[in-house]
Amino acid sequence: MMTEYLTWQSELATQKFAERLAQKSLLRSANIQLSGDLGSGKSTFTRYLLRELGVTGIIKSPTYAVVEEYRVVNSSTEQKIWHFDFYRFNDPSEWEDAGFKDIFASEGLKISEWSEKAVGYLPTPDLHINIQIQDNDQRQVTVNAFSEKGRLLLE
Ligand SMILES: Nc1ncnc2c1ncn2[C@@H]1O[C@H](COP(=O)(O)OP(=O)(O)OP(=O)(O)O)[C@@H](O)[C@H]1O
Ligand SMILES: [Mg+2]
Repeated sequence: MMTEYLTWQSELATQKFAERLAQKSLLRSANIQLSGDLGSGKSTFTRYLLRELGVTGIIKSPTYAVVEEYRVVNSSTEQKIWHFDFYRFNDPSEWEDAGFKDIFASEGLKISEWSEKAVGYLPTPDLHINIQIQDNDQRQVTVNAFSEKGRLLLE
């Protein structure tokens, strides 16, 4: 495992990190988990990332639907993106019924907010990003790579 500690002094730093990740071709099929305080910036980070990957239009918060799916075409190949928010995930039967298991087994980018609410269901991610709010409103960020792909995404 590899760990990177970052300080995001403002949303601009969040945006820069998202832009850095979006440049990696390995992101095409990766599993990224986000955890941390309410309002710490998980959705903000995800929106910057999705925009950078070419998602246009509204990026809804999937709090109620649990998942929102996007398809973008990049250099004539289709990129699938699933944005999960497990904040209200409390029905384990949903895991298989809603096809989440199949999604995580398939190609595409899976990005999950509130991954801690689906512990035991979610497979080990390539990257886990934990965001904590500091007193001065800066964000203290811990990024863990759990796979070779995750490690390469951080290079
Ligand atoms: N790096 C940052 N520094 C300061 N403020 C930030 C930073 N990133 C995001 N914010 C602000 O903090 C808030 C974060 O809201 P956001 O919805 O992204 O959080 P969240 O972690 O997804 O919350 P929830 O737990 O409800 O899903 C927004 O108002 C955003 O403008
Ligand atoms: Mg959110």
